[in-house]
Amino acid sequence: MAATNFPQGFIWGSATAAAQIEGAAHEGGKEDSIWDAYARVPGAIAGGDTPDRAVDHYHRYRDDVALMKRLGLDSYRFSTSWARVVPGGRAVNPEGLDFYSRLVDELLEQGVLPWLTLYHWDLPQALQEQGGWANRDTSYRFLEYAEAVYGALGDRVSHWTTFNEPLCSSLIGYVGGEHAPGLNDPVAGLAAVHHQHLAHGLAVQRLRELAGDAGRDIQLGITLNLTNAVPNDPADPVDLEAARRIDALWNRMYLEPMLLGAYPADLLEDVAEFGLADRIRPGDLEVISQPIDFLGVNHYHDDNVSGHPLPADAPRSLRPTDKPGRSPFPGSEYVSMPSRGLPRTAMDWEVNPEGLTELLVHLGREYDNLPPLYITENGAAYDDVVSEDGAIHDAERTQYILDHVAAVGRAIEAGADVRGYFVWSLLDNFEWAWGYEKRFGIVRVDYDTFERTPKDSALAYARLIADAKAAD
Ligand code: NOJ
Repeated sequence: MAATNFPQGFIWGSATAAAQIEGAAHEGGKEDSIWDAYARVPGAIAGGDTPDRAVDHYHRYRDDVALMKRLGLDSYRFSTSWARVVPGGRAVNPEGLDFYSRLVDELLEQGVLPWLTLYHWDLPQALQEQGGWANRDTSYRFLEYAEAVYGALGDRVSHWTTFNEPLCSSLIGYVGGEHAPGLNDPVAGLAAVHHQHLAHGLAVQRLRELAGDAGRDIQLGITLNLTNAVPNDPADPVDLEAARRIDALWNRMYLEPMLLGAYPADLLEDVAEFGLADRIRPGDLEVISQPIDFLGVNHYHDDNVSGHPLPADAPRSLRPTDKPGRSPFPGSEYVSMPSRGLPRTAMDWEVNPEGLTELLVHLGREYDNLPPLYITENGAAYDDVVSEDGAIHDAERTQYILDHVAAVGRAIEAGADVRGYFVWSLLDNFEWAWGYEKRFGIVRVDYDTFERTPKDSALAYARLIADAKAAD
């Protein structure tokens, strides 16, 4: 399917997240989020980078919205920073809300649909000090925060995402230790999973009520990072078993409580010693399985899974402990990306657009009550070179995007109900533990001057959108 054959009304967008772009880490009443605090831990972030200034979007949001308009984006997916809105975890900071209100007004004025995410990993540090997501109380603090944001923006924002990639802010943060808060505690990690699920359900329930009372039609959903857990050798039972475990831990642990109202039985067995079942209180799963209007899918690469240990001489970058997402649960220590001979991005992630088609088609077949899907993130980091004329000829990223858009088109042809695609990311930004080293933007940011320069990929994406619109 060419981009011109996408269904009418298909949403073309781009995405960012507060901690990765805003900067102004201690301005306008904002206090530390866990990422501000984590960045001060020696060795936590590559190059000792911090989100302090990020790409200064807080001060440049008008220019950034003008850029979105120039590229022809239908929608902009961004997140609100909890630590800006409720800095200490309890009292609302009106100045923080005001920033997002101005941003939303600007977007609407330029004809760009605001697509808001409430949690993209930046918990107020004050709440972390009370146990963070391992503490059930945080779910109720999240509900208050969601109500505050909805109270300020609900009259203008129609698309609401509760969580972005909860897997990362639970397992990678509390178990893998590569993300804030940097813990290696599987019991806390699984508590975090359940409490985030609960927070999601509580917020969906409440926002739905509030919108109903006001006679507003809103769209509520969540964004999950879903993967194809591919057994390295499909004929090897050890690899098959490892792939099953990863599918349970990375996909079904999120999808099934929300869509089916239950954790997968095999998962509960796999992680029995870490107390997930003990966290579930009567009524929780009913709250968690509130109907949602859409499911956001973030997908960058498949995961090639082997149950056999990697060879001792495997290159450092292939060792699971060097990879975000590798957790000490049984089986997952063997997740690896042994080469399938596919090209890699600068993250060392393999490029396989076909995997995206397979994933989308598979989801539709697996879950009868699957809501419409949106690709809320897809994109690639490459080591960009600025040419003498100042242009960035990022041919690999351009190809990556075009190929993945085509892969979405093929999934739609095969029956998947996909309604939009958001490139990650609009701007080069703070790539979490990788600091500013990895560039995902379709727009280059000069980290000294904060100057923005659309790369070739941005121009190609703009053309693709224009062609799709012309054919609408
Ligand atoms: C997923 C996350 O949501 C986003 O914050 C991150 O920058 C991209 N993946 C790339 O790693």
